[in-house]
Amino acid sequence: MCGIVGYIGKKDSLPVLLEGLRRLEYRGYDSAGVALLENGVIRVVKTQGKIKNLDALLAKEKKTCSNIGIAHTRWATHGAPTKLNAHPHSDCRNNFSVVHNGIIENFSSLKNELIKEGHKFISETDTEVAAHLVEKYYKGNLKEAFLKAVNKLEGSFAIVLMSSKYPDRLLFARLGSPLIAGVGKGENFLASDVPAILSHTNKVIYVKDCQAGEIRKDKISLFNLKGKTQPLKVEKILWDLESAQKSGYPHFMLKEIHEQPSVLKHLAAAGIKFDKKLTGALKNARQVSIVACGTAYHAGMVGKYVIEEMARVPVSVDVSSEFRYRSPIIDSRSVLIAISQSGETADTLAAVREAKNKGAKIVSICNVVGSSLTRESDFVFYTHAGPEIGVASTKAYTAQLMVLYLFGLNLARIKKSLPVATISKYNKILRNIHTHARLILKNCSRRICDVAGRHHNFGSFLFLGRNLNYPSALEGALKLKEISYIPAEGYAAGEMKHGPIALIDEYRAVVCIAPESKIYEKMISNIQEIEARKGKIVIIATQGNNDIKKYSKEVIFIPKIAELFSPILAALPLQLFAYYIAAKRGCDIDQPRNLAKSVTVE
Ligand code: F6R
Repeated sequence: MCGIVGYIGKKDSLPVLLEGLRRLEYRGYDSAGVALLENGVIRVVKTQGKIKNLDALLAKEKKTCSNIGIAHTRWATHGAPTKLNAHPHSDCRNNFSVVHNGIIENFSSLKNELIKEGHKFISETDTEVAAHLVEKYYKGNLKEAFLKAVNKLEGSFAIVLMSSKYPDRLLFARLGSPLIAGVGKGENFLASDVPAILSHTNKVIYVKDCQAGEIRKDKISLFNLKGKTQPLKVEKILWDLESAQKSGYPHFMLKEIHEQPSVLKHLAAAGIKFDKKLTGALKNARQVSIVACGTAYHAGMVGKYVIEEMARVPVSVDVSSEFRYRSPIIDSRSVLIAISQSGETADTLAAVREAKNKGAKIVSICNVVGSSLTRESDFVFYTHAGPEIGVASTKAYTAQLMVLYLFGLNLARIKKSLPVATISKYNKILRNIHTHARLILKNCSRRICDVAGRHHNFGSFLFLGRNLNYPSALEGALKLKEISYIPAEGYAAGEMKHGPIALIDEYRAVVCIAPESKIYEKMISNIQEIEARKGKIVIIATQGNNDIKKYSKEVIFIPKIAELFSPILAALPLQLFAYYIAAKRGCDIDQPRNLAKSVTVE
C-alpha cells in the first residue's frame, strides 16, 4: 500500500527521499511524488506510474537543494491513479503539503464543508482534505492546526505534513496505518517501513496508534492527539539492508523461496515456549479461533488440521474480513490466533479488536517486529523469516506453518493428547524438515521450470488436494493467479465431482497434490477422473512413487515425510511452479498489478 518517506537534516533531501521510495516499492503503488521546501516555497513534482517516471521528470527540472522534504508512493483508493491524484497534496495557497497512507472515511462530508467555506480542491482524493483542514485551522501555531485537523479525520491512516512557514520541522500522526521515525545524527526520518531508512540509520521509533509528533533535524518529539508530550522509545533494527536486497537473484520472490530452509531450520531449532499465562488461557479455552487473510489464512487452515490432530482441541478458521461480521461466539474463555506476515493487515487487526472487546486472549503469529498486531496481542510468536519484500508471500507462509506445528505440539504437551514419544518424534521431524526443503530447491527447481515451460500458456488452472493439502491447493492457486494473472482455483479434490469437473477438458491444466497419505487412493481416483476427461495433469507426489507416472508425465517429486507435515514441503514446488510460469509470461513478479504487500485498508 502507499509508502511515505520524510526527511529533515543536512543532506540534500531529494536523493534520500527517492532512495526511500524505491525501498518501499515492494508495497505496491501506481503513482509517486515528492514535495521539497526550497527558500520558503514548496515545490511538488509527481507523476503517474513508477518511480523511474518521477526520476525522469525530476531530471528535466532545474537542480536545487533542499534539506527538508516528503515523498510518497500511492496505491489508489479514492480516485484513479493519475498525476493529479498522486501525493503530496496541498492547500489553496501551497503553504501546507501532506502525504498520507490509509483511508479518511469522512472525507466527503469534510470536503463539502470546506468547499462551502471557499476552499478549492483539485484532486479526487480523500487526502487533500487534510491539507485544507490545516489551512483552515492555522492561526499561527502549526502543531495546534495539525492536531485540530487530525482530530477531525475518521478512518485508518498515517499522515505527514510539511509547511512552507516551518522549514525546521515535519509533523506526523498515526491512526491505524504504520509509521516509523528514524533517528539519525543531525538528521531525522519518517517512513512507512524500515527498509526506506535503513541505509541511514538502524534506530527507529515505532509511532503508536493515536500518536502524533514532530521531527526536526536534531530532535524528535511525540505527543498524543491532544498535544500532551509522550515518551520516546528508540529500538534497534537487528537486520541489515543486505537482507532486503535481491542478493543476485532475479526477483525477491525467488530469493525468499530459497531462504525457506534456513528459516525453517532456525525456527524449529529455537522452538516456542508457552508462559504460565498462555498455558492457563489455553487450558481454559473451549476452542481456538484463527483469523487471517490470503496466504496467512491458508496457513491457518493447515493449522486447524494440525492443532486438532495433535491437541484434540476444536479449531475454527475465518477469513479476517468475514469473522467480525458473522457474530462469532467469543468470550473471555476464547483464544484467538491472528496470523499475519506484516502485522498491519487492516482486516486482521479489526478482527482482533472485535475478539478482544469480547474478552478473548489474542495470540499473534507475525513476521514484523513491533507491528500493530504484535502490540495489540497478549502473546506473540515471531516467524523470524526476515523482511519479505516480494508481494507474493512465500517464506512467511512456511514459517507460519512451522510456528503452528510447534504451537500444536506444545498444546498437545499441555493437554497430554499425544504420547511423549510421539511429541519428540514430531519435534525431530520438524527439526529435520529444512533438509528436505533444501533438497527440493536443489533437485526440483530445474524440473519445475521445465514443467512450467510446458504449461505457461494454459488459460486456467485447477489445483486439487485433500485433507491437510486442501489448503496447499488453495495456496498453490493463489500464488499462481496473483503473479501470473492466470485464473486458478483451488479445490478439495473430493469436491471436484460436485461441480468443477464440468471444467475439465484438454485445455484445462490440473495440479494434483498427491503425496503419500491415508487418502492417497482417493486422490488417485480423482486423478483418473481428470485423465478420463483429458485434463492436463501435473502431479506433486512422494519420491519413489514411480507408479504414479502412469497418470502423467509431469510429476514433481518431494521427499518422503509423514503426511501430517507434508504441507510444508508441498508449498515449495507450488511456489516455484507459480514463479516460473509468471517468469515465462514476463510478469512483474515482485510487484504484481493491483496488489499491495501490506493491506492497510479494510
Ligand atoms: C499472497 C499474499 C496475501 C497476504 C495477505 C495477508 O501471496 O501475500 O494474500 O497473505 O494480504 O497479509 P499479512 O500476512 O501481511 O496479514
